[in-house]
Amino acid sequence: MDAPKIITELPGPSARAVIARDEQYSSPSLTRVYPLVVARGDGAVLEDVDGNRFLDFNAGIAVNAAGHNHPTVTAAVQAQAAKVMHTSTLYLSEPMIEFAEMVASASGIPDARVFFTPSGTEANDTAILLATSYRKSNQVLAIRNSYHGRSFTTQAITSHSSWSSTSLSGLQVQFVQGGYRLRSPFRDLDDDAYADACVGDLVQLLDMTSAGDVACLIAEPIQGVGGFTTPPDGMFGRFHKELSNRGILFVSDEVQTGWGRTGEHFWGYQAHGIVPDMLTFAKGVGNGITLAGIVARAEIMDSIKVLNFSTFGGNPLSAAAGVATLRYVIDHDCQANAKRMGARFEATMRPVVDATPWIAELRGRGLMWAFEMCTPGTIEPDKQRTTEFHEACRRHDLLVGKGGLYGNVIRLAPMLNVTEPELDEGIEALQAAIAEVS
Ligand SMILES: Cc1ncc(COP(=O)(O)O)c(C=O)c1O
Repeated sequence: MDAPKIITELPGPSARAVIARDEQYSSPSLTRVYPLVVARGDGAVLEDVDGNRFLDFNAGIAVNAAGHNHPTVTAAVQAQAAKVMHTSTLYLSEPMIEFAEMVASASGIPDARVFFTPSGTEANDTAILLATSYRKSNQVLAIRNSYHGRSFTTQAITSHSSWSSTSLSGLQVQFVQGGYRLRSPFRDLDDDAYADACVGDLVQLLDMTSAGDVACLIAEPIQGVGGFTTPPDGMFGRFHKELSNRGILFVSDEVQTGWGRTGEHFWGYQAHGIVPDMLTFAKGVGNGITLAGIVARAEIMDSIKVLNFSTFGGNPLSAAAGVATLRYVIDHDCQANAKRMGARFEATMRPVVDATPWIAELRGRGLMWAFEMCTPGTIEPDKQRTTEFHEACRRHDLLVGKGGLYGNVIRLAPMLNVTEPELDEGIEALQAAIAEVS
């Protein structure tokens, strides 16, 4: 990346022309940031249509695992495009089967079967369809502060009023206390006592408010949209025990936490010493090509007895991208890189955060880190400083994500192959940005 330059104006002239057309033709409900109009990417760098270059620590919301325009993934997609791009899943294609084999064996789920979908939303939708069919119950548990997608069903299991436009699904959903400690009534407890309290909440909810035959609990091991909130290790293991005693399935939403992003584990669920009944995946595995799916034990996958297909799920083009990306991630041990880079990031940034009264919390692990901004000495969300911080990062040519329940969280999810110099450059930009916030 070139020496950082301060950008004084965004959008530039070429971007403004595109933005005008966007305003005329696209749905106004789509969220835009800055807005930035992207022209091309190369590794950890994104360039806009006016030639401004940014270090990308948002990575398309934790998607570009191997970096923009990765030569191996791009070559695999080009080679497949030259053969056949689409057949529908009615016909078999070798890339789809090869990818299913790879995902099934990586999943850790015994007797695993894979169903591909175009998005994480549809993967979670399918998980709920499977769990409710298998258990013959419409009762579902989810975790407070969760995000599972934008469809009718997944909005019902999402616990953010800003992302939930309807409560009309036929599901009976209850939300359990989970990993968002900063805003939990149990926040002052230590790890063990906190986990005890959350397990107690789950048990009480099951005993007091369910009809006894709950289908499943769905949980993100580290909440993505919710701001990388992280429960104590092992806590979901204790949930799993209570649930499996009652026959209730555990679904791990690995859309953000999969493929080694947490550094310590390949899947987020592994921090809890469990094997889930199902996991859903998306984002990082196609390095940008639309690719998602669900892994479930065969007996659960078999609970759909009617005709079932997905036109685009696992089509040859996206499956070829998946095979190339997953091979790259495994062969280059991106998980170990995530662990090393995460430790380097935390070692530098923890003292900075400790010395910054308006950053209430730095949390995450591996290559998912979040800063939550609050009025000093309180847990009152500080949206103003969050916006200033976000803007200051952009002025220092660093792209980061914004999120959290109250929009007061800055999230970083760099490429899984981010290098030490790139990480250090991002850290430098973050430090400069923090120093500029009043
Ligand atoms: C944990 C989690 N689950 C599901 C989804 C939905 O995935 P998609 O946007 O691909 O539909 C997201 C998206 O951010 C997510 O973070």
